[in-house]
Amino acid sequence: MERTLVVETLKKVGEEVKLQGWIDSIRDHGKITFIDLRDRSGKLQCVGNNLPKVTVESVIEVIGKVTDRPEKLINQNLDTGKVEVQIEELSLVSSASEIPIPLDTDGYDIEEEVRMKYRYLDLRRRRMARNLRIRSKVANFMRRWLLERDFVEIETPILTKTTPEGARDFLVPSRLQRGKFYALPQSPQQYKQLLMVAGFERYFQLARCFRDEDPRRDRAYGEFTQLDIEMSFITQEDILNLTEALFTELVKEVFPEKKITKSPWPRISHKDAISKYKSDKPDLRKNKNDPDELAFAWIIDFPLFSEQSKEDFYYGSGSSKFAPSHHMFTAPHPEDISLLETDPTKVRGLQHDMVLNGYEVGGGSIRIHQPEIQAKIFDLIGFSEKQKKEFEHMLTAFKYGVPPHGGIAPGVDRFTYVTLGEPSIREVMAFPTSASGQTAVMDAPSEASQGQLEELGIKIGKK
Ligand code: AMO
Repeated sequence: MERTLVVETLKKVGEEVKLQGWIDSIRDHGKITFIDLRDRSGKLQCVGNNLPKVTVESVIEVIGKVTDRPEKLINQNLDTGKVEVQIEELSLVSSASEIPIPLDTDGYDIEEEVRMKYRYLDLRRRRMARNLRIRSKVANFMRRWLLERDFVEIETPILTKTTPEGARDFLVPSRLQRGKFYALPQSPQQYKQLLMVAGFERYFQLARCFRDEDPRRDRAYGEFTQLDIEMSFITQEDILNLTEALFTELVKEVFPEKKITKSPWPRISHKDAISKYKSDKPDLRKNKNDPDELAFAWIIDFPLFSEQSKEDFYYGSGSSKFAPSHHMFTAPHPEDISLLETDPTKVRGLQHDMVLNGYEVGGGSIRIHQPEIQAKIFDLIGFSEKQKKEFEHMLTAFKYGVPPHGGIAPGVDRFTYVTLGEPSIREVMAFPTSASGQTAVMDAPSEASQGQLEELGIKIGKK
């Protein structure tokens, strides 16, 4: 007999079916026992007499007949609440030990460390299973929508050289070239620009980015995913319009219950945002208690430079007061080019931030495509000759016919988390790293063997 999913039983009243799944709950009434069986499609009540002893969360197989429930016993809270299965045969496929965390609650009150240790159980929780399914729909919508519009999906390397976005890099030691290191990309920024030089014109990637920075509610430690987009022969206006159309249609399809506060999305200059809302990511919801309101906005006309801070790991090693507000490839506003010489703080950048309910959910810019302006920016942010050399490939590439280009990278985890109104970004990630940098379930980072260290030529100093 073929397997039937529990939702399919609604159409199989009177038939004998085979079900496979987990025991969601057991209610033992002496001779008669009720078992809620859960599979990927939902839950269903199964009823039987003299059943073998089984434990909650065990995997079982049930053979039985689907029957209508009497009118009075219909369970409105269950998709399958109109029917039940009369168990004829129950076999235990794999028994479950006592489950260390409750799974029938939303789980918010359980210590995160314990949830992460048993993340594979935590993900059985209805809320978490739903979050990951929604996230999959979000990513799938993005991919389909862009492919339909002539974008090419291209993967870029993870073992690479630093691509600074203002955080610390993760380094990976090289075995073949002892003493040298790869850096994991903080974003595919340079590769996507090089793909424009290569002539693809429209690129996207659901890109994993790696940043060693302190986690926050809206910021994952270690890694996260961007919808990375780059286009050639476009203006900033084109990027904003494309992104706005993508997200407006995405919300309609994946989050039909949500209402966008204002369309077209308000466009606010950085200066106005600061003077009016005291924030470069204002929360423009009309009613902040309404969980179904999505207030998108664009923030534009950022200053090209901000004050250099201790957090700017790469830029200039403190030899300049300027750090790029977005990143060093962002184009200055064409009207402000001459100010680069006279008053760099007044130069506006062609940067755009996508804001949602008070969070920055995406950022991007029109890029510099003139080697001499790029070189000027390197000088202004105080790059040493050695640092300049590290980015020489960009200046070289720009010598061979580079189209004007620009793009954006909305955060997939960040957008999903804000839209669902979850208390932490980790609630939409399958196996997030904890605040102390410990990975879920697997307990990394861990020590390397002496043999591995020797191969890499690494000696660990005193802790
Ligand atoms: P930026 O650094 O602004 O731009 O990042 C873009 C978007 O990525 C998401 N994001 C994060 N999400 C979760 N955890 C983090 N630690 C984290 N850091 C960033 C946010 C953010 O808006 N290369 C440029 C994009 C471009 O210019 O096209 C970049 O990475 O949603």
